[in-house]
Amino acid sequence: MSRQLSRTDNLIQQFDTILRTLVPHAASASRANPAVGTQDAEMTDAERRHAAGLMRINHTGEVCAQALYQGQGSTAKLHETRDQMEQAAAEEIDHLAWCDERLCELNDRTSYLNPAFYAASFGMGALAGVLGDNISLGFVAATEEQVGRHLDDHMHKLPQGDRRSRAVLEQMRVDEAHHERWALEAGGARFPAPLKLGMRVMSQVMTRSVYKL
Ligand SMILES: [Fe+2]
Ligand SMILES: [Fe+2]
Repeated sequence: MSRQLSRTDNLIQQFDTILRTLVPHAASASRANPAVGTQDAEMTDAERRHAAGLMRINHTGEVCAQALYQGQGSTAKLHETRDQMEQAAAEEIDHLAWCDERLCELNDRTSYLNPAFYAASFGMGALAGVLGDNISLGFVAATEEQVGRHLDDHMHKLPQGDRRSRAVLEQMRVDEAHHERWALEAGGARFPAPLKLGMRVMSQVMTRSVYKL
């Protein structure tokens, strides 16, 4: 039997998502890890650390994605697109879990800065939601475009031997392109270049700090 979620239910659900996103190993994927069946080639210690730095950035990117969707969900109307947005958010949970699993395999950890990036991204998502559905969806599209570029860059930068991280990033790349297409088709505004540039500068702050921290 279905019922309208009360305000308290909503708050509990939000809190649950925050915990799943921020507590290491708390997120579980609904799809199989794309690296299943793929073996790494040999990697030096330095290569392993470099791969972990890149995967930590990708993990934090997924923390931000989760917070953006949550923030938007809390303020946007999204009558016709809420289901699709929830579907996209579920796929971001898969990404989050896969990146976390990969960091474990590399004997490394997620970023200490995740709570701060979660809070900032939630705020930006909530603001975009207030500004209207076309801005909100445009923000999703612009973010996914940027994430796609990051993933392409990381697939080049990963050590040759790190085949398992690459398998994860390849599936994420497919999903992010799908999210971007969906958001534009659903009426998302195309953001002007200066705004995209601002988003790129902010993401550089994230990538530089999270690589080590
Ligand atoms: Fe993602
Ligand atoms: Fe995405």
